[in-house]
Amino acid sequence: MFKINDNYLKLPGSYLFSTIGKKVREYKAANPDRNVISLGIGDVTLPLAPTVIEAMHGAVDEMASADTFKGYAPDLGYEFLRQAIVDNDYKARGADIAIDEIFVSDGAKSDSGNIGDIFSVDNKIAVCDPVYPVYVDTNAMAGRTGDYIEAEQKWSNVIYMPCTAATNFAPEIPKETPDIIYLCFPNNPTGSTITKDELQKWVDYALKVGAVIIYDAAYEAYISEDDVPHSIYECEGAKACAIEIRSYSKNAGFTGTRLGYTVVPKELKSGETTLNSLWARRHGTKFNGAPYIIQKAGAAIYTEEGKKQTKEMVGYYMQNAKYIRDELAAAGYTVSGGVNAPYIWLKTPDNMTSWQFFDNLLENANVVGTPGSGFGPSGEGYFRLTAFGSHENTKEAIERIKRL
Ligand SMILES: Cc1ncc(COP(=O)(O)O)c(C=O)c1O
Repeated sequence: MFKINDNYLKLPGSYLFSTIGKKVREYKAANPDRNVISLGIGDVTLPLAPTVIEAMHGAVDEMASADTFKGYAPDLGYEFLRQAIVDNDYKARGADIAIDEIFVSDGAKSDSGNIGDIFSVDNKIAVCDPVYPVYVDTNAMAGRTGDYIEAEQKWSNVIYMPCTAATNFAPEIPKETPDIIYLCFPNNPTGSTITKDELQKWVDYALKVGAVIIYDAAYEAYISEDDVPHSIYECEGAKACAIEIRSYSKNAGFTGTRLGYTVVPKELKSGETTLNSLWARRHGTKFNGAPYIIQKAGAAIYTEEGKKQTKEMVGYYMQNAKYIRDELAAAGYTVSGGVNAPYIWLKTPDNMTSWQFFDNLLENANVVGTPGSGFGPSGEGYFRLTAFGSHENTKEAIERIKRL
């Protein structure tokens, strides 16, 4: 008789965005005349850049002819894309990453969820609190997190690193030593970042205690300040302790197109075994490659035109971020983020809980955001707004919030 993976049964409630979706659908059904604006989900709204579309069209045409048709992609991804990654994302920033250390994938969600496959179930993970929920949930599915304690909204076998106003929404080195440390900067949901010197401390710590850092740099393109690192490999020694995950979703609008990559340096070892060889084995066995058409589209991001056009997209969203941040601050809200990230993290007024503020905003301003408590217990009393809307909707939503 078959048995299920009963770790799944330990997972609490429904996924945060399903709960939000349900509430919004119910509200709209009861109030069909209301124009509800969403600054909730972190999905982009601008179309793909013209250069990217052109590359996709070209690749589609190649598929129509026997001499240019492409079947299965190479395991690690096409060399034209991996070389562009090495040159633009690493060499240009002084990081020496080899082409066979890059693994092209269908995005950062899958990679950050799947990377746990190459680690023993006995490892103890440390996560920021609040946190992008995928890291914790996928470790729970693997049986690495112990039991869920409803009253605390925490797992019994996870090290939580509170990121609060007192720490500038950055984690501090935990008292208990973890084996795997998840870091994400610029951060979702708080929009915070850390400097290169601060990140170097994490690298030094990981090297000292023999931990591995899973560094999610999905929002790297939003960095505007000079002392914020774009890659963990800008730090000395990081190649011996860190895996980096990147996405084309937020820098180039590939949320629906699906493309990302993970870097696993060959220096990163457990005894004599390189994590690169394990991830190569996993990738080759369980993943059959991102589509040629999409990898061609991805490579177009690195052309001069592609860089210019995607930079403009990021700039468009960051204008929204600045607007939200400035206007809400002027209206008396306590806000952070929005400088190196498309997320604004605001303190709920009048000691409302995150969900009370959500309901208040939905019902009285017809604006949807994301309750901070959905990202972890330290997110309680906070609220996330995204800059991914149109200028018009963003302006209208903020005017409404100000009138509350
Ligand atoms: C921190 C973080 N990592 C990864 C992802 C997922 O990226 P992708 O679309 O490449 O799967 C997101 C998406 O919102 C995110 O916020």
